[in-house]
Amino acid sequence: MKTSELRRRYLEFFRNRGHTVIPSVSLIPDNDPTTLFTSSGMQPLVPYLLGQVHPEGKRLVNIQKSFRAQDIEEVGDNRHTTFFEMLGNWSLGDYFKREQLPWVFEFLTKEVGLDPKRLYVSVFEGQGSIGKDTEAIELWKEIYKTVGMDAKEGEQIFAYPAKKNWWSRSGEPENMPPGEPGGPDSELFFEFPNVQHDPAFGEKCHVNCDCGRFVEIGNSVFMQYKKEADGSLSELSQKNVDFGGGLERLVAATLDESDVFKIDIFQPIVASLESASGKKYGADVESTRCMRIICDHGRASTMLMADGALPSNKAQGYVVRRLIRRAIRFGRLLGLQTGFMTEIARSVLDSYAEAYPVAPEKREAILAAMSQEETKFNNMLGKGLKEIEKIPTLTGALAFKLFETYGFPWEMSEEIARERGQQVDRTEFEAEFKKHQELSRTAGKGMFKGGLADHGEAVVKLHTATHLLHQALRSVLGVHVQQKGSNITGERLRFDFSHSQKVSPDEIKKVEEIVNSQIERDLPISFKLTSYEDAIKEGALAFFGERYPEKVKVYEIGDFSKEICGGPHAEKTSLLGKFAVTREEASSAGVRRIYATLS
Ligand code: ALA
Repeated sequence: MKTSELRRRYLEFFRNRGHTVIPSVSLIPDNDPTTLFTSSGMQPLVPYLLGQVHPEGKRLVNIQKSFRAQDIEEVGDNRHTTFFEMLGNWSLGDYFKREQLPWVFEFLTKEVGLDPKRLYVSVFEGQGSIGKDTEAIELWKEIYKTVGMDAKEGEQIFAYPAKKNWWSRSGEPENMPPGEPGGPDSELFFEFPNVQHDPAFGEKCHVNCDCGRFVEIGNSVFMQYKKEADGSLSELSQKNVDFGGGLERLVAATLDESDVFKIDIFQPIVASLESASGKKYGADVESTRCMRIICDHGRASTMLMADGALPSNKAQGYVVRRLIRRAIRFGRLLGLQTGFMTEIARSVLDSYAEAYPVAPEKREAILAAMSQEETKFNNMLGKGLKEIEKIPTLTGALAFKLFETYGFPWEMSEEIARERGQQVDRTEFEAEFKKHQELSRTAGKGMFKGGLADHGEAVVKLHTATHLLHQALRSVLGVHVQQKGSNITGERLRFDFSHSQKVSPDEIKKVEEIVNSQIERDLPISFKLTSYEDAIKEGALAFFGERYPEKVKVYEIGDFSKEICGGPHAEKTSLLGKFAVTREEASSAGVRRIYATLS
């Protein structure tokens, strides 16, 4: 099946079961300081899983662009990717296991046509205060019966502890920050009997084995718990279902193809790589691995750039840079010269033109940024080479330093040293590399520290201040001012908006005065649900970079501001305190950036 066909059928299947289709949000989360990327469909829905009313109702379905940075090192096998599209369906306190599990099974076996004998499921074994999910086991037995199978635990159905069968954004219950929702889950695996088990992954193969014979294609999370400040788990006021399915893997399963890189969406990208390198995908293990890494990193970096993250040394931009440079390094192993990443970006934009359209000017900007990054990196490699010439003996630690500073590939250090009749200590290089990896993992985990609830109050107030600032900028500078981006941490807000020249100190003073006078007026903040069209008609501001669902929430701050927004916000403006702009600078062409605080 083609990717576009599966997208269509999935949405249709759940639409026919009372779900409303909601759009994919940006890969770069707006107003969420706790995480760098949108890594699952549930992420923008957290407030609704916790009990807020969703404007589109209690049954939602979508396909969400997702990015998981922690998978970078895993890319290269038949199924791991950093960017992927997640098929999601949600019950927000509506249906539960009894309805959802049969639907997923029906979708996979009847609609998509997968052989039920090759479908295996896992459930939660129980841990701590939460018992084994015997309900899911019984349901699965009933479900398999409908296709004439007598599925047994230990044969088709497997129970695992929390490490495998508990899902929250931060994993097992003990890692969940206070306020974070989660719950036991039931995962679905598809078997590729032609893939021989590789004993390197353990003596015996099983559904959770990493050899590639069993591929996870879906996960139903029964999201019914919340972590409390005292470390316990409490029941949420509503029982939710959060389903996530891997679009690419599912398309591969319909083709009985264990390699996701062989599905239609990757074909133009692989073809562009084949023509640049003169090598055939699949011809040998090493170059196939290189091609998979380049395909994945090329696709992910392009999609991230399309959502506004250009290569840089900070936050999301740093990850984009890392992906591009890693792809270039593997490109060198394939013998590819400068410029190939720009070609890959072009193929990616073509492949996704229908599902995630990009305006022509933006397309050009993405290609230009990719090309610039390639040139910059190649220049750096040149510098790295010069540095190496100055070093009499290249140690593993020095090779790592070159790698870290200039992105200088290990393979190149090795080759240079070889030319001099020397040998670099690979173990030392790898030990340094591991240390670095641990550090970035810990830093990554820190992003979740405290979760949403922890930052709660300060972030919510700054979010309300962003609306006041938006309106004040329009009053002072003119109505051409439109929000272009926003990022809020517990300490400050950052707001990007369209305006072509520097905002003068006088103008900033006026903006501050307006915002502070609205705070002093103690305006009430409320929201209503309405259609997107009506919201725009009545003058609500919108973040035009986003695609909105048909029904939206409109937040009003007294008579001063009206804006389409998912919330949450403070109850009244007097809670905000004193507003001050701390910095004003250029963000990109025609876009200014303001940092501001509340005290
Ligand atoms: N949120 C769940 C996941 O990402 C469905 O696996």
